[in-house]
Amino acid sequence: MAIHGHAIVSDDDHIAAADGTVPAVLRNAADWARFQAALDDAAVTVLGRNGHEANPNRKRRNRLVVSSSARGVERREDAWWWNPAQMAVETALTCAAPAGGIAAVVGGRQVFDLFLRLGFDTFHLARAPGAAIPDGIAVFSGVRDGLSADEVLARNGLVAGPSVELDPVAGVRLVIWRRERAQP
Ligand SMILES: NC(=O)c1ccc[n+]([C@@H]2O[C@H](COP(=O)([O-])OP(=O)(O)OC[C@H]3O[C@@H](n4cnc5c(N)ncnc54)[C@H](OP(=O)(O)O)[C@@H]3O)[C@@H](O)[C@H]2O)c1
Repeated sequence: MAIHGHAIVSDDDHIAAADGTVPAVLRNAADWARFQAALDDAAVTVLGRNGHEANPNRKRRNRLVVSSSARGVERREDAWWWNPAQMAVETALTCAAPAGGIAAVVGGRQVFDLFLRLGFDTFHLARAPGAAIPDGIAVFSGVRDGLSADEVLARNGLVAGPSVELDPVAGVRLVIWRRERAQP
């Protein structure tokens, strides 16, 4: 399966406030439409338990929830649940999306960290300029350690594409980072 990450970040590379809520500065209609279309195209949405609980699955999308409470990979009433310490990612994705396709990884931080190690094929990083979220949740743990999100992606083998304007009024822009392919 193809692994595609998606996040919108503030000036200081945060994805949410400390309490897990998403502040208004990160809510942008153009980015939301892009994000929803990407989820519509995906065979499965992969997200952490907090994000799953905070965001009701109104469109009844196929979700794979990452949690230490799961036994391996298991089907629950609301979603597939997966414990990465007990089951390989390939097995979990095959259970959740047997026909293959795109796995859209939507965070939060620990889930983004996990897939940095497992390997993103692309990471869609949108930026909402003009505001920081002090003490917020960083998109990657490396940001807490002083790196920018761009530096974290580059250090994990991803290469930035062009910066595309999503919303000229709000100044929201999107960069798609892609895994660098080895030369034949
Ligand atoms: N701006 C954005 O683009 C964006 C993106 C994503 C999320 N968000 C927001 O950020 C908020 C909070 O995100 P968050 O980082 O605090 O939480 P989160 O990633 O949604 O959930 C964290 C939980 O996921 C489980 N988990 C994650 N990685 C795991 C691993 N490797 N192994 C086992 N379990 C793992 C754990 O659940 P257990 O405690 O059950 O073990 C952990 O407590 C969300 O509510 C969402 O609204 C914003």
